[in-house]
Amino acid sequence: MTVFSQIRSLFFGSVFLTAGFASLPFAIVGLILKGRPLDIFNKSKLSEANFTFLWAIVGKPSVADAKITGKTISQAYGVVLDLGPGTGYTVHHFDKSKTTKIFGIEPNKAFHPALQAAIDAAGLTDIYTIVGTGVEDSETLKKFGIEEGSIDTIVACKVLCSVPEPKATIAELYKILAPGGLFLVYEHIKAKGGVGLIAQGLANTVWPFLMAGCNLCRPTEAYLYGAGEWEVTELGHPEGTGGHEFITFTQGRLIKKK
Ligand SMILES: C[S@@+](CC[C@H](N)C(=O)[O-])C[C@H]1O[C@@H](n2cnc3c(N)ncnc32)[C@H](O)[C@@H]1O
Repeated sequence: MTVFSQIRSLFFGSVFLTAGFASLPFAIVGLILKGRPLDIFNKSKLSEANFTFLWAIVGKPSVADAKITGKTISQAYGVVLDLGPGTGYTVHHFDKSKTTKIFGIEPNKAFHPALQAAIDAAGLTDIYTIVGTGVEDSETLKKFGIEEGSIDTIVACKVLCSVPEPKATIAELYKILAPGGLFLVYEHIKAKGGVGLIAQGLANTVWPFLMAGCNLCRPTEAYLYGAGEWEVTELGHPEGTGGHEFITFTQGRLIKKK
C-alpha cells in the first residue's frame, strides 16, 4: 500500500513541479500586464507571482484531500486563527455553530478577493476577518487582539511549510493558544527516508522558488512537539501513507496543557 502511495506521490509531485516551471512565463506576462515589469527581477516577488498563478490552477483540493481537510477544520471552535487560507478552498469546512470569530492570516494580497468570495459563499462574512500579514508579524496580530492565550483553535493546513522561521513561529503560536486550546494540523513534512527523501532533497533546490517559499523538508512535527507542553498529541500520516512519500503529510491535533 505504501509503495503504491510512494509511486503516486512521486508522480503527482513531479506533475506539480513541472507545472511550477510551466507557469513561470504566465507569471512574468502577468507582472508586465499589471504594470510591474521590474518585479520580474525580484526573486521573491516573481516567486510569489508564480505561486499565485499556479495555486489558482492546481491548488484546488482533490476529493481525498478535501476529506482530510474537512475532518481537520470542522473540529475548530471558539476564536480561531486560520493560518494561510490562500484563496479560501477550505473555509467552507468551518462549523459555524462552534466558531465565534475566525482570523484568516493571509499575507498574499492577490489571494484576498477569492478568499473573501469563499468566506461570503460559506456564510462566514460576519465572523471571518482577513488579516493581510504573515503569522510571524506579531505587532499586526496584536492590533487584532491576537496575543498570548487569546486563541481557542489554530488551524494549520499546508502553511507551516511556507512560513519563514517555522520553529520560532510555532513556538509563538503555542503562546497565542489558550490553555486547553486546540492546534489542528494538516501539513506536508520531511520524508522519513528512501526515494521520497532523496526526491525531496533534489526538488527542494528549486521548489521554494517556484512555490513562494514552500519547503519540502521541514520536521514540522518535531517543531510542534517541542513548542511546549501538550495534553494531547495525536499526529499521524493519513490512511494509506507511511511517511516515505515525496509529498508526505502529517494530520491530527494537539491540545495545549491547561
Ligand atoms: C499551499 S497554500 C495553502 C492554502 C490553504 N491553506 C489551502 O489549504 O488551500 C499556503 C498559503 O500559506 C500562505 N503563507 C505563506 N507564508 C505565510 C506566513 N508567513 N503566514 C501566513 N500565511 C502564509 C500563502 O500565502 C498561501 O496562501
